[in-house]
Order: sequence, then structure tokens, then C-alpha cells
Amino acid sequence: VRRIGVLTGGGDAPGLNAVIRAVVKSSYNYGIECLGLENSFDGLLETNRHTVLTPRNVTGILRVGGTILGTVNRGNPFLKPIDTSDGPKDYAERCMEMFHKLQIDGIVVIGGDGTLSIAHEFNKKGMPIIGVPKTIDNDIVGTTNCFGFDTAVAFATDAIDRLHTTAQAHQRVMVVEVMGRYAGWIALYSGVAGGADVIMVPEIPYDIDIVAQRIKERDSFGAKFSIVVVAEGAVPRGGKVSLVKAADGGYVERLGGVGHRVAAELEKLTGKETRTVVLGHLQRGGSPTSFDRMLATRFGAMAVELLVKGESDRMVAFHPPEIGSIPLADVGGKMRLVPADGDVVRTAKSLGISFGDE
Ligand code: F6P
Repeated sequence: VRRIGVLTGGGDAPGLNAVIRAVVKSSYNYGIECLGLENSFDGLLETNRHTVLTPRNVTGILRVGGTILGTVNRGNPFLKPIDTSDGPKDYAERCMEMFHKLQIDGIVVIGGDGTLSIAHEFNKKGMPIIGVPKTIDNDIVGTTNCFGFDTAVAFATDAIDRLHTTAQAHQRVMVVEVMGRYAGWIALYSGVAGGADVIMVPEIPYDIDIVAQRIKERDSFGAKFSIVVVAEGAVPRGGKVSLVKAADGGYVERLGGVGHRVAAELEKLTGKETRTVVLGHLQRGGSPTSFDRMLATRFGAMAVELLVKGESDRMVAFHPPEIGSIPLADVGGKMRLVPADGDVVRTAKSLGISFGDE
């Protein structure tokens, strides 16, 4: 292996730069040249869309959010052709041509479910790839953790801490909407870590009357405020919901604006003053926690180690306490969901946290 590439695709997550840094430094120490490809697979469209990266280029980026390689791209290369001066060209074929022209021996692809599925398709065409799982939602299958999740949870937990004091001072219900389209990991972990009273996740459809009941109970024993953490993909039991396209091409139910809707309903049902805070993209920014820096660094180094060993079509994965890897083919189109009867949900319930289901 003499030359490798590295790229980032999909929504950003704290720790992307830490992975890039680890890939660059460890490949350098193997005597391998590392090309940073700009904006996901778009970095393979033209000759001027990459930079040779050395340890000097990645100095100081360990703690910085976002990605120095960018992530804005034209979408799935296997779905639409690109316009060139010679007319439309097959985007994926064009990437393959550039891959061969640049004499790259393998690519480290840092991305979520969508980007990793594309990576698997390129692998089938003969582009050796090692994937690195990225999403703050922590819903990629085959790995206990994705980097970015711990940072998002730390941020949301801090927000819940801050909201406790103002909720208590005003005797209000504070509804905190966190990210998590299909999986409620951020809501679950920040809700438990922040001492929430109610946690609503997509995996456990809620009954708003049960949530209201929990708030009234608290009120009657003197806790005049409540903290309700809602994942953006939370759905009411049997409720009327709109459908959105999921990563696997199927459809999932999603309402959008769930925090505000839940707050309005709770205010009506409990008679208590209610406010909503949507944490949104703040959860994707900022400096990665030490846990995410460690994970990202270990993922990056392991990705290079696998390419050096001649492996491809695999995704590095956290199987505590070790970093391992799984076939990329096992990743696409699936979601690692919160088990409704898992120990974290059971722990939360045993502490009296309601999920609005019973
Ligand atoms: O996949 C991560 C995620 O943070 C989701 O929870 C959220 O719905 C989505 O990204 C938002 O992405 P964007 O607004 O950047 O398209």
C-alpha cells in the first residue's frame, strides 16, 4: 500500500477531524502517502479536488468540530449522472477512473449509513474501502458506539442541567427536543444522565395522557416542575403521522416539530405553563469529548491498519474493550435501535422516569 485516500460524507459529527488526523498520522508513519478528498466522493470527480495531507496539515485539528475535508456533495454517485462539458457522464464511473488515475490503493470513508452503503457499492467495483461509523444518533449497526454520540449526549445533558433550575424557579414543564430521527439514543442517555422525568423515543410510541398523568403526579407530591426529553422522531401511539423516506429506501413515520406539539398538548392537559427548547444542530458542533477523541483516533488508526493488512469492504467497529471490524455489507439499510426492554430503559423506568407507555 503506497497511497490511500480519506473522505468524509453526510452530516457532520464531533470527532471527524480526529479520525482524519489519526488516518494521516498513522499512514505517514507506515510510509504511505495520504490524499484528503474534498466533499465526500465528489473529491474523485476532478484532479484538483484533493490535497496530500501530512502530519503538518492536521496539527491542531484534534479538538475542532466539523471536517477539514467538507461534506457537501452531489448525492449518491450511483443514482444520478453528472453534467460535464461532453454531456452527462456516469458519476460512479468517473470516480472509478479518477481512483485509478490517482493510483490510490484504498480509501478510508468516514460516514453514516448512507455514505457507508455507497462505499460498499464502490468496493464491489474494485475500490478497496474501510468505513468508519459516524453519527451523533449512534444508530449504525455492528458497533456499540459511533464517535460524536458522546459529545452530543454531553451537550444535551448540560442543557438539561441548565433547564432544571429555570424549570424549578418558574414551576414549569420544560420540553427539550433532541436529535434522533429513527433512534432515541441521545434522548435516552441525556435523559437518564440529566435526571429527566419523561423520555420519549421513537422506539416506544407514547400516549400523551400518560405523560400528562406523570407530570400531575409529580405536582401532587410537591415537585412542581418537570423535564421532558423528546427525540425528534418520537411518535404517538396509534397517532396520525406523516411518512418520510428512510435510509433503507423504505418509509418511517415522522411528525416533525414534535417538541412544540408535545409542549402544547401537555400545557392543555396539565394546565401548567410549558416551554420548549429545540437543541438542534448545536448537538453536532463543538469540541469532541475525550471519549469521542479516543474512539475517533482508534477508529482512524485501525482503518489504516486494516488497509495495510490488505483488508477491504469492512467497517471498523467498537466492540468494548477492543476496536474490531465488520463487513460493510452488514451495515447498510439497517438501524441500531434502542431496545425497549434493554437495561438502560429498565434502569430509567426503575427510577420512575416515564416513557409515556405505561
Ligand atoms: O443523522 C444525524 C442527524 O443529526 C439527525 O438526528 C437529524 O435529523 C439530522 O442529522 C439533521 O440533519 P441535517 O439537518 O443536517 O440534514
